[in-house]
Amino acid sequence: MSANNFNEIRVFDDAVDNMDIIKTIIDTENQENGFYIVDIGDIIIKHREWITKIPRVVPHYAVKCNPDPTVIKILAALNAGFDCASEQEIRQVMQYNVQANRIIFANPYKCPSHIKYAKKMDINQMTVDSELELLKIKDFYPEAKIIIRIQCDANNTTCNLGLKFGCESDKEAVRLIRLTIDLGLSLHGFSFHVGSPCGELNAFSRGIDTCRRLIKIAKTMGCKDVQLIDIGGGFPGEKGTNIDKLANLINDAIQDLDPSIRIVSEPGRYYVTSAFTLATYLHSKRLSYKNGKLMRMYYVNIADE
Ligand SMILES: Cc1ncc(COP(=O)(O)O)c(C=O)c1O
Repeated sequence: MSANNFNEIRVFDDAVDNMDIIKTIIDTENQENGFYIVDIGDIIIKHREWITKIPRVVPHYAVKCNPDPTVIKILAALNAGFDCASEQEIRQVMQYNVQANRIIFANPYKCPSHIKYAKKMDINQMTVDSELELLKIKDFYPEAKIIIRIQCDANNTTCNLGLKFGCESDKEAVRLIRLTIDLGLSLHGFSFHVGSPCGELNAFSRGIDTCRRLIKIAKTMGCKDVQLIDIGGGFPGEKGTNIDKLANLINDAIQDLDPSIRIVSEPGRYYVTSAFTLATYLHSKRLSYKNGKLMRMYYVNIADE
């Protein structure tokens, strides 16, 4: 266990309870700032669980979910891949000797300078969901490996990512395959994200089936190098949740895919939700009445100075 006070790290024995760690820190340091307790072992267990239960799907940690250097260092050492959304995230991950082929630039809306940086660093796998992005990549990185992101929202999810990202998975996806070919770019595969967290497990099988269908179409249109399915994130990460049901469902959905197809994922919350506990300093309380009802307001300090 480590308690992270932004700039300072203290290490505690694994047997010590989170509440005892919080009390120790508050008692010994007159602590008024918020801090995290990070269970490093929990991140390692999550990674082992993934590679044991869903061995064909290579996880690429979604850095945006929690870019804490400790998380990146551990996952880099465990040989995980990374989903980076910006130049800054690529820089952060590459500090720890992560090779370019372990990184997917999984943001369908990239700044030109970030695309140029990816090119400089040889990070060639990148997602797109629009014609404009394909044209941009043609200008700045024509050797990139294109991954077309389709919409595949779960029927039940808190954060519905299809509103922001992904093309419609029939006509629009085929139009983007056609444009990729016409621009002389290389189509590498298809990706989706079911939303976060995913409340409808079948969304994963739906997404995998759609990608399988699109790969077949792309091959008949002449894309020889299409070979990747990226099943995104949306996996639960809370303490006590287990991914057995989801793992079985995904393993079933991919079992008869051609072995030449590489399958990856972009879990974020899965890796870090149960590992991080935020301790905040509740310094003040206000009582007031609204429409005759007592309201309590609590003021907390979670920021560094
Ligand atoms: C492209 C992409 N991949 C992966 C993730 C991580 O999702 P989750 O934390 O649900 O696994 C996100 C989250 O917003 C995302 O936008």
